[in-house]
Amino acid sequence: MKTVIYYFTGTGNSLAAARKIAAALKDCDLVPIASLKDTPGTIVPAADRAGIVCPVYDAGLPVIVKEFAERLDIGAVPYAFAIVTMGGMGVSALHQLNTILVQGCRKKLDAAFAVSMPGNFPPLAIPPAGEKKDEILRKADADLAAIAVAIQKGQPVPPGFSPFSSLMRILLYPPFARNVHGMSSSFSVEDTCTGCGTCAKVCPVKNIVMEKDRPVWQQTCELCCACLHFCPAEAIQLSLMRGSKGRGRYRHPDLTIDDMKAQRGEKSGTTP
Ligand SMILES: Cc1cc2nc3c(=O)[nH]c(=O)nc-3n(C[C@H](O)[C@H](O)[C@H](O)COP(=O)(O)O)c2cc1C
Repeated sequence: MKTVIYYFTGTGNSLAAARKIAAALKDCDLVPIASLKDTPGTIVPAADRAGIVCPVYDAGLPVIVKEFAERLDIGAVPYAFAIVTMGGMGVSALHQLNTILVQGCRKKLDAAFAVSMPGNFPPLAIPPAGEKKDEILRKADADLAAIAVAIQKGQPVPPGFSPFSSLMRILLYPPFARNVHGMSSSFSVEDTCTGCGTCAKVCPVKNIVMEKDRPVWQQTCELCCACLHFCPAEAIQLSLMRGSKGRGRYRHPDLTIDDMKAQRGEKSGTTP
């Protein structure tokens, strides 16, 4: 049985989740949503099962995923599922996805799951580290193993409901979606920057260009924070809310720079 999973990731949680499900389902293609960003037209999965795996942003979908879902036609796919990874709260993102799909192709997700993984937004909460992080990842692995079984069996799984998450989406998501691309201006780089260009290489939407060995953010930011978390010198800061200085960094232990390049549809090379 053929499966296609579309994914988006900033720090590797969603890619790790997608890979875990793909490994369990066997005949499965992983397609990066970022690599489809500039392709025209409707996306029709040619598969028996189609899945979307992505993080929750401001109680909703990353804008790049929302725009992808608006182009996705799963009308003829026998079983469609979604998994959102989140730091704490976000089943509302699954309801948002269902609404988009019903409006676009009159088909809801057959199964919808939310998995708690380490949070990656330092301006709001310091990402978990050490044993706390490991424990969250172990629990996520167990949850994903159970999710893979449900998908294999073709079980119907409606999204859970959280009034708090729904309220947060009503309050937070519209301004987030309106302003996210311009949030580039909230990033800055300190003098400890070595000019290595890692930030530009890992940005899923190629929003960073290097000028005079310093990153310059353009106007297509998704706020995934890959640049922030990958910077080997911790020289990138984000001035939203409580800021990011000294507030920890996170990326999933399996995530490589090559993975981030592959997400952009680029061939991977040797990972520095
Ligand atoms: C801009 C932004 C907004 C976020 N908003 C939420 C949120 O509303 N609820 C939540 O539980 N986690 C939130 N998170 C945390 C991520 O959803 C979570 O860490 C996710 O697993 C990251 O996935 P990734 O590693 O695939 O990028 C947010 C992260 C970012 C960068």
